[in-house]
Amino acid sequence: MRPSDRIFCALDTTDTADAVTLAKKLKGTVGGIKLGLEFYCANGADGFKRVADAGLPIFLDLKFHDIPNTVAGAIRAVMPLAPKLFTIHTQGGPEMMRRAAETAAEEADKHGLKKPWVIGVSILTSLDDSDLKAIGVADSVPDQVARLARLAAENGLDGMVCSPKEITLARAATRPDFKLVVPGIRPAGSAVGDQKRVMTPQDAVDAGADVLVIGRPITQAADPAEAARAISASLKSGGNAESSAA
Ligand code: C5P
Repeated sequence: MRPSDRIFCALDTTDTADAVTLAKKLKGTVGGIKLGLEFYCANGADGFKRVADAGLPIFLDLKFHDIPNTVAGAIRAVMPLAPKLFTIHTQGGPEMMRRAAETAAEEADKHGLKKPWVIGVSILTSLDDSDLKAIGVADSVPDQVARLARLAAENGLDGMVCSPKEITLARAATRPDFKLVVPGIRPAGSAVGDQKRVMTPQDAVDAGADVLVIGRPITQAADPAEAARAISASLKSGGNAESSAA
């Protein structure tokens, strides 16, 4: 596994042409591209295909959250796009997670694809303990993240998204091959922007991160490919090769 395989660059834009240009520039320097709600709502499956045509694996971050039947339907709808990984909300509950994992496996078989990683989102980092209380959750954010991580692992998910601060507790609550996908990564010396809790790429890998989601430190750089190369160079190779995105 190459260190660059761990890096998924978040392209938070609505502009397909910009996304395609960046994806082409980044080919060979990162493990893949993350496309989220902003991009997908604006450009849909066609936009996804245009970016994927650049040749990098795609992380489709749409955070599905609905009744099990509807989430299964959404997964069936996106599977022909062959994302390498996609997200669902773990707060959709055990049955929703099981159905999501089963549907991803069935549809992958049907389309002759490798099963994508079904990745859970736990508590959004924009929420704190008082927000949880407001919606009737008495537990603290860390306790709730650990609970949802355990539930996700027990109900067939391949991994979860967690903040740098949550890597250790998520790893402790789950099995060693459960993939931890971590945003909030900032190379030493780069602008933190609106991220509140950041970690350097190597510190995140040392703590147990499998995939590093990195946006602006790459996309806003004068030379995005060079920025991505520098981040890879800052990573020692090795880590958990089994769980790499390669
Ligand atoms: O530009 P930056 O590196 O901050 O981008 C991080 C990416 O990870 C963005 O797409 C952001 O939406 C996403 N993300 C995050 N924090 C979370 C979950 C997702 O920053 N808790």
